[in-house]
Amino acid sequence: MCGITGYVGNRNAVETVINNLKRLEYRGYDSSGVACLTEKGLEVARAVGKIANLERVLDGHTPESHTAISHTRWATHGKPSERNAHPHRDSAGKIAVVHNGIIENYAELREELISEGVVFASETDTEVLPQLIARELTRLSTQISAESFAHAIRVALSLVRGSYALAILCADLPDTVFVARKDSPLVVGVGEGENFIASDISAVIRYTRNVLLLEDGEFGIITPDKVTLLKLDGQIVAREIFRVTWDDAAAEKGGYAHFMLKEIYENPRTVRETLRTRLLEDGTISLPGVPFTPAKWTSFKRIAIVGCGTAYHAGVVGKRFFERILRRPVTAEVASEFRYGDPILDAETLVILISQSGETADTLAAMREAKSKGATTLAVVNVVGSTLSRDADAVLLTQAGPEIGVASTKAYLAQLTALSLIGLYFAQVQGATLTADYAVALRELPSLLERCLQKEPEIIALAEALASSSCFFYLGRGYDFDTSLEAALKLKEISYIHAEAYPAGEMKHGPLALVEPGVSVIGFCTQIETEEKMISNLKEVKAREGTVVAVLREGAKNPDCADYTLFVPGTLDPLMPIVSMVSMQILAYHVARLRGCEIDQPRNLAKSVTVE
Ligand code: AGP
Repeated sequence: MCGITGYVGNRNAVETVINNLKRLEYRGYDSSGVACLTEKGLEVARAVGKIANLERVLDGHTPESHTAISHTRWATHGKPSERNAHPHRDSAGKIAVVHNGIIENYAELREELISEGVVFASETDTEVLPQLIARELTRLSTQISAESFAHAIRVALSLVRGSYALAILCADLPDTVFVARKDSPLVVGVGEGENFIASDISAVIRYTRNVLLLEDGEFGIITPDKVTLLKLDGQIVAREIFRVTWDDAAAEKGGYAHFMLKEIYENPRTVRETLRTRLLEDGTISLPGVPFTPAKWTSFKRIAIVGCGTAYHAGVVGKRFFERILRRPVTAEVASEFRYGDPILDAETLVILISQSGETADTLAAMREAKSKGATTLAVVNVVGSTLSRDADAVLLTQAGPEIGVASTKAYLAQLTALSLIGLYFAQVQGATLTADYAVALRELPSLLERCLQKEPEIIALAEALASSSCFFYLGRGYDFDTSLEAALKLKEISYIHAEAYPAGEMKHGPLALVEPGVSVIGFCTQIETEEKMISNLKEVKAREGTVVAVLREGAKNPDCADYTLFVPGTLDPLMPIVSMVSMQILAYHVARLRGCEIDQPRNLAKSVTVE
């Protein structure tokens, strides 16, 4: 949940790392800082708040340097402040470290170092790292070299428990950046006579498409002409260059006011790309990246779908769909509960882990829990080279491209599409013939989503009518209830209005007491068998003077209890969560915009929650 960049080469290193850091601001933005090696030695600048504040501190005077590291923070230990901003240094000011992750045993290490006379300058867990490296260097008392410094890093990391992606500078070792990674992502962009370090690919692809993905427990010595990767035991690692195919524009806003709106408009392309190579011309499904034999698939007697936030909400839809077409027990579980719930898993369980970033700590822990109990793990993930994509037994990549807005939009539709493919493939293996109908419906999905996008003007008018609501209820039954979970999250996380999803049939068991003027209730009535029941529920709301918004299929009768009606294109019931969500993402976006909220980086949130 923090962003790291580094550079070594012949460019102005400070300008380069800060420009790249801006691509990572979605990962955390409560403070930032930069360290560089100059003829004066190690220089550091830090600032609270966004990266623009750091640039103001530098005030255009970027030191003459060809080696630098930088960091944008999302606080886990120590409040957002200049003194807690990275980089952190040892007491002698000769070592600078930027860190993404958590040192879980930092308190005991801090106490030990304090007892040896170390004076800490910050409240962070990270600061123990430069102090430990400095202590080891003193103990080595040899002439400092890249090798002795690398050894000191290895010893320091052997004392540490937790997660880290690190970039480290030493004042006595010019033109060299040291990196290390465990449970937090780190990549090296390989250039000509220069090398780039970043938390993810989007921060380096302006300079190079050749990338080295560090694995857990690896660290590296990076100079302008050489990248040496090693295991913590010193064994050299031979890593293939990964060739990035994303275009640079994909990580830019493309003319939209916010990444979130751009990504909403990428929904049709995302669904189309996620279907590509998997939904075949003949209407059958293929999952080339999933190496399970038919016997392996049919050996799964139970399925658990696990994720956090939006990814969990996709799992809720997947559960309903899988149970309906596979007739096997399926659960949808929140990863942070699953990992501590001692789940009943065995070799006949398939655990599907859903994650856009592939780095969410709770979801990674859930994967480890599943593997420890002999279950088979299948990751539905969007980021190539992420930990989840590399450590699960099998991977189905959602082809959403970089998702920068903290509020997940296109990734959700990609996850639902991927789950549809998995469910249909599994049904196909079981000998079902239902895929033909779904193949037609899936193929037309992108055009249905384009039609939803064309309704933006109508949805803006609805947002204007609802933006001053005191709170929202999102109601539904069946798949419509599943949709209401994600629709409610979208609104609350960017507009800061409380919004609650509820099974429509449950309102009269309590929550109806909350309905009064100013409360807006959005009722999804897209499921054919429950449409009538839903209209009755909305009449109960209207009778209590709540504001009623009905979401119905095109062609349905306009209910007279609705103050506002949104018609969405119809498709098969299990695919309606994909279609209905586009309008809800647009609605949430415009309500937040009208309320003057910070849309791409909402308060208190980060794009990738890599800590518990
Ligand atoms: C959704 O809009 C949020 N950004 C959040 O709930 C997110 O879905 C959750 O943190 C899971 O992230 P992941 O998909 O990267 O694992």
